[in-house]
Amino acid sequence: MKKHIVVLTGAGISAESGIKTFRDADGLWEGHDVMEVATPEGFERNPELVLDFYNQRRRQLNEVEPNQAHKDLVTLERDYNVSIITQNVDDLHERAGSSNVIHLHGELRKIRSSKNENDIKVWNEDLHLGDNCKQGHQLRPHIVWFGEAVPMIETAMDVCKQADILVIIGTSMQVYPAAGLMDYAPADTPIFYIDPKPAIGSGGQIKVIPKSATEGTVDLLNILHKNG
Ligand code: APR
Repeated sequence: MKKHIVVLTGAGISAESGIKTFRDADGLWEGHDVMEVATPEGFERNPELVLDFYNQRRRQLNEVEPNQAHKDLVTLERDYNVSIITQNVDDLHERAGSSNVIHLHGELRKIRSSKNENDIKVWNEDLHLGDNCKQGHQLRPHIVWFGEAVPMIETAMDVCKQADILVIIGTSMQVYPAAGLMDYAPADTPIFYIDPKPAIGSGGQIKVIPKSATEGTVDLLNILHKNG
Protein backbone atom coordinates (compact mmCIF):
# COMPACT_ATOMS: atom_id res chain seq x y z
CA MET A 1 0.00 0.00 0.00
CA LYS A 2 1.55 3.36 -1.09
CA LYS A 3 2.13 5.82 1.76
CA HIS A 4 0.13 9.06 1.62
CA ILE A 5 2.16 12.27 1.33
CA VAL A 6 0.23 15.51 1.86
CA VAL A 7 1.99 18.62 0.54
CA LEU A 8 0.98 22.13 1.65
CA THR A 9 2.36 24.76 -0.73
CA GLY A 10 2.50 28.55 -0.74
CA ALA A 11 3.82 31.30 -2.98
CA GLY A 12 7.41 30.25 -2.35
CA ILE A 13 7.11 27.15 -4.56
CA SER A 14 6.30 29.35 -7.55
CA ALA A 15 8.92 32.02 -6.82
CA GLU A 16 11.56 30.30 -8.97
CA SER A 17 9.08 30.25 -11.86
CA GLY A 18 9.08 34.06 -11.71
CA ILE A 19 5.84 34.62 -9.77
CA LYS A 20 6.27 37.10 -6.91
CA THR A 21 5.47 35.96 -3.38
CA PHE A 22 3.28 38.22 -1.24
CA ARG A 23 5.32 39.19 1.79
CA ASP A 24 8.96 38.91 0.71
CA ALA A 25 11.00 42.01 -0.19
CA ASP A 26 9.48 43.35 -3.43
CA GLY A 27 6.52 41.02 -2.82
CA LEU A 28 3.05 41.62 -4.29
CA TRP A 29 1.77 43.19 -1.11
CA GLU A 30 4.56 45.80 -1.27
CA GLY A 31 3.23 47.13 -4.56
CA HIS A 32 -0.46 46.85 -3.80
CA ASP A 33 -2.77 47.66 -0.91
CA VAL A 34 -4.23 44.31 0.19
CA MET A 35 -7.44 46.00 1.36
CA GLU A 36 -7.92 47.54 -2.10
CA VAL A 37 -7.25 44.52 -4.32
CA ALA A 38 -7.98 41.45 -2.15
CA THR A 39 -11.19 42.18 -0.19
CA PRO A 40 -14.88 42.18 -1.20
CA GLU A 41 -15.07 45.77 0.10
CA GLY A 42 -12.22 46.79 -2.22
CA PHE A 43 -14.04 45.18 -5.14
CA GLU A 44 -17.20 47.07 -4.18
CA ARG A 45 -15.30 50.37 -4.00
CA ASN A 46 -13.17 50.04 -7.16
CA PRO A 47 -13.97 46.95 -9.26
CA GLU A 48 -11.83 48.08 -12.22
CA LEU A 49 -8.71 48.28 -10.05
CA VAL A 50 -9.35 44.75 -8.74
CA LEU A 51 -10.21 43.28 -12.14
CA ASP A 52 -7.03 44.80 -13.62
CA PHE A 53 -4.89 43.41 -10.76
CA TYR A 54 -6.07 39.87 -11.45
CA ASN A 55 -6.02 40.34 -15.24
CA GLN A 56 -2.31 41.14 -14.99
CA ARG A 57 -1.67 38.08 -12.82
CA ARG A 58 -3.71 35.82 -15.14
CA ARG A 59 -1.79 37.10 -18.18
CA GLN A 60 1.50 36.39 -16.37
CA LEU A 61 0.56 32.71 -16.16
CA ASN A 62 1.13 32.50 -19.91
CA GLU A 63 4.74 33.64 -19.44
CA VAL A 64 5.82 31.25 -16.66
CA GLU A 65 6.46 27.51 -16.41
CA PRO A 66 6.41 24.96 -13.57
CA ASN A 67 9.87 24.64 -11.96
CA GLN A 68 11.79 21.58 -10.78
CA ALA A 69 10.09 21.66 -7.37
CA HIS A 70 6.63 21.35 -8.99
CA LYS A 71 8.02 18.52 -11.14
CA ASP A 72 9.64 16.72 -8.18
CA LEU A 73 6.22 16.49 -6.53
CA VAL A 74 4.98 14.71 -9.67
CA THR A 75 7.93 12.30 -9.49
CA LEU A 76 6.88 11.43 -5.93
CA GLU A 77 3.61 10.05 -7.34
CA ARG A 78 5.55 7.02 -8.63
CA ASP A 79 6.07 5.70 -5.10
CA TYR A 80 3.53 7.63 -3.03
CA ASN A 81 -0.11 8.65 -3.03
CA VAL A 82 0.40 12.44 -3.21
CA SER A 83 -2.22 15.08 -2.28
CA ILE A 84 -1.35 18.74 -2.83
CA ILE A 85 -3.15 21.46 -0.88
CA THR A 86 -2.06 24.83 -2.24
CA GLN A 87 -2.69 28.41 -1.23
CA ASN A 88 -1.54 29.41 -4.72
CA VAL A 89 -3.97 30.56 -7.38
CA ASP A 90 -1.60 29.75 -10.25
CA ASP A 91 -1.95 26.54 -12.27
CA LEU A 92 1.67 25.37 -12.08
CA HIS A 93 0.99 22.20 -10.06
CA GLU A 94 -1.52 21.03 -12.65
CA ARG A 95 0.74 22.04 -15.55
CA ALA A 96 3.62 20.07 -13.98
CA GLY A 97 1.33 17.02 -13.98
CA SER A 98 0.18 16.68 -10.36
CA SER A 99 -2.97 14.55 -10.12
CA ASN A 100 -4.56 15.70 -6.84
CA VAL A 101 -4.53 19.45 -6.28
CA ILE A 102 -6.82 21.33 -3.88
CA HIS A 103 -6.82 25.13 -4.26
CA LEU A 104 -7.66 26.75 -0.93
CA HIS A 105 -7.61 30.36 -2.13
CA GLY A 106 -9.14 29.96 -5.59
CA GLU A 107 -7.74 29.88 -9.14
CA LEU A 108 -6.70 32.67 -11.50
CA ARG A 109 -7.96 30.72 -14.54
CA LYS A 110 -11.52 30.65 -13.16
CA ILE A 111 -14.15 33.35 -12.60
CA ARG A 112 -17.54 33.32 -10.95
CA SER A 113 -20.72 35.31 -10.50
CA SER A 114 -20.42 38.00 -7.82
CA LYS A 115 -23.86 36.93 -6.55
CA ASN A 116 -23.77 33.13 -6.96
CA GLU A 117 -20.46 31.63 -5.73
CA ASN A 118 -21.29 28.29 -7.33
CA ASP A 119 -21.60 29.74 -10.82
CA ILE A 120 -17.94 29.19 -11.69
CA LYS A 121 -16.32 28.84 -15.11
CA VAL A 122 -12.88 28.53 -16.68
CA TRP A 123 -11.64 31.85 -18.06
CA ASN A 124 -8.35 32.67 -19.78
CA GLU A 125 -9.03 36.22 -21.00
CA ASP A 126 -9.11 39.58 -19.27
CA LEU A 127 -12.27 40.18 -17.24
CA HIS A 128 -13.95 43.58 -17.55
CA LEU A 129 -16.60 45.66 -15.84
CA GLY A 130 -19.88 44.67 -17.49
CA ASP A 131 -18.89 41.06 -18.07
CA ASN A 132 -21.94 39.51 -16.44
CA CYS A 133 -23.20 36.03 -15.58
CA LYS A 134 -26.42 34.70 -17.18
CA GLN A 135 -28.44 36.30 -14.34
CA GLY A 136 -26.91 39.66 -15.18
CA HIS A 137 -24.54 39.92 -12.21
CA GLN A 138 -20.96 41.18 -12.57
CA LEU A 139 -18.41 38.38 -12.91
CA ARG A 140 -15.43 38.40 -10.52
CA PRO A 141 -12.15 36.46 -10.16
CA HIS A 142 -12.63 33.04 -8.49
CA ILE A 143 -10.27 34.03 -5.68
CA VAL A 144 -10.81 33.82 -1.90
CA TRP A 145 -10.38 37.36 -0.65
CA PHE A 146 -9.51 38.37 2.90
CA GLY A 147 -12.56 38.11 5.12
CA GLU A 148 -14.22 35.53 2.86
CA ALA A 149 -14.91 31.88 3.70
CA VAL A 150 -12.48 29.19 2.50
CA PRO A 151 -14.85 26.63 0.95
CA MET A 152 -12.27 23.81 0.61
CA ILE A 153 -10.95 23.99 4.18
CA GLU A 154 -12.91 21.02 5.56
CA THR A 155 -11.82 18.87 2.62
CA ALA A 156 -8.22 19.94 3.24
CA MET A 157 -8.47 19.11 6.96
CA ASP A 158 -9.76 15.62 6.13
CA VAL A 159 -6.88 15.07 3.69
CA CYS A 160 -4.34 16.14 6.36
CA LYS A 161 -5.87 13.69 8.85
CA GLN A 162 -4.87 10.87 6.45
CA ALA A 163 -1.25 11.96 6.05
CA ASP A 164 1.57 9.46 6.58
CA ILE A 165 4.06 12.23 5.75
CA LEU A 166 3.42 16.01 5.66
CA VAL A 167 5.50 18.36 3.51
CA ILE A 168 5.23 22.16 3.68
CA ILE A 169 6.86 24.23 0.92
CA GLY A 170 7.27 28.00 0.60
CA THR A 171 4.74 29.56 2.92
CA SER A 172 5.17 32.17 5.70
CA MET A 173 2.36 30.43 7.63
CA GLN A 174 0.78 33.78 8.45
CA VAL A 175 -2.61 33.25 6.84
CA TYR A 176 -5.30 31.16 8.56
CA PRO A 177 -7.00 28.77 8.31
CA ALA A 178 -4.33 27.42 5.87
CA ALA A 179 -1.50 27.89 8.39
CA GLY A 180 -3.36 25.69 10.91
CA LEU A 181 -3.66 22.67 8.62
CA MET A 182 -0.47 21.02 9.86
CA ASP A 183 -2.20 20.50 13.21
CA TYR A 184 -4.65 18.06 11.58
CA ALA A 185 -1.92 15.58 10.64
CA PRO A 186 -1.80 12.57 13.03
CA ALA A 187 0.53 13.22 15.99
CA ASP A 188 3.37 10.95 14.84
CA THR A 189 3.44 12.22 11.26
CA PRO A 190 6.93 13.27 10.09
CA ILE A 191 6.77 16.89 8.85
CA PHE A 192 9.27 18.41 6.41
CA TYR A 193 9.20 22.22 5.99
CA ILE A 194 11.11 23.63 2.99
CA ASP A 195 11.60 27.42 3.06
CA PRO A 196 14.74 29.61 2.89
CA LYS A 197 13.30 31.82 5.68
CA PRO A 198 11.29 29.29 7.72
CA ALA A 199 8.57 30.66 10.02
CA ILE A 200 8.99 27.74 12.45
CA GLY A 201 12.01 25.76 13.68
CA SER A 202 12.88 22.07 13.67
CA GLY A 203 11.79 20.02 16.66
CA GLY A 204 9.59 17.02 17.49
CA GLN A 205 8.18 15.68 14.23
CA ILE A 206 9.27 18.79 12.30
CA LYS A 207 12.42 18.83 10.16
CA VAL A 208 13.13 22.22 8.59
CA ILE A 209 15.04 22.30 5.28
CA PRO A 210 16.04 26.00 5.12
CA LYS A 211 16.50 26.06 1.35
CA SER A 212 14.69 27.15 -1.81
CA ALA A 213 11.93 24.91 -3.13
CA THR A 214 14.01 23.47 -5.96
CA GLU A 215 17.02 22.72 -3.70
CA GLY A 216 14.86 21.57 -0.79
CA THR A 217 12.80 19.07 -2.79
CA VAL A 218 16.03 17.40 -3.95
CA ASP A 219 16.93 16.88 -0.26
CA LEU A 220 13.40 15.70 0.45
CA LEU A 221 13.48 13.07 -2.32
CA ASN A 222 16.86 11.83 -1.03
CA ILE A 223 15.59 11.59 2.57
CA LEU A 224 12.42 9.76 1.49
CA HIS A 225 14.44 7.46 -0.74
CA LYS A 226 16.85 6.66 2.11
CA ASN A 227 13.97 6.11 4.58
CA GLY A 228 12.38 3.82 1.96
N1 APR B 1 11.57 28.55 -2.40
C1 APR B 1 10.83 28.26 -1.28
N2 APR B 1 10.25 29.21 -0.49
C2 APR B 1 10.48 30.50 -0.84
C3 APR B 1 11.24 30.88 -1.97
C4 APR B 1 11.79 29.82 -2.77
N3 APR B 1 12.52 30.07 -3.85
N4 APR B 1 11.26 32.25 -2.03
C5 APR B 1 10.54 32.70 -0.96
N5 APR B 1 10.08 31.65 -0.25
C6 APR B 1 9.26 31.65 0.96
C7 APR B 1 9.43 32.86 1.88
O1 APR B 1 10.52 32.69 2.77
C8 APR B 1 8.09 32.89 2.61
O2 APR B 1 8.13 32.11 3.80
O3 APR B 1 7.91 31.67 0.57
C9 APR B 1 7.12 32.23 1.62
C10 APR B 1 6.15 33.20 0.97
O4 APR B 1 5.30 33.71 1.96
P1 APR B 1 4.08 34.66 1.56
O5 APR B 1 4.55 35.66 0.59
O6 APR B 1 3.49 35.13 2.84
O7 APR B 1 3.10 33.68 0.77
P2 APR B 1 2.05 32.62 1.34
O8 APR B 1 2.49 32.06 2.64
O9 APR B 1 1.77 31.66 0.26
O10 APR B 1 0.77 33.57 1.56
C11 APR B 1 -0.42 32.99 2.01
O11 APR B 1 -1.59 35.06 1.80
O12 APR B 1 -1.63 36.92 0.55
C12 APR B 1 -2.36 35.80 0.87
O13 APR B 1 -3.95 34.56 -0.33
C13 APR B 1 -2.61 34.94 -0.33
O14 APR B 1 -2.30 32.54 -0.57
C14 APR B 1 -1.73 33.72 -0.06
C15 APR B 1 -1.63 33.70 1.45
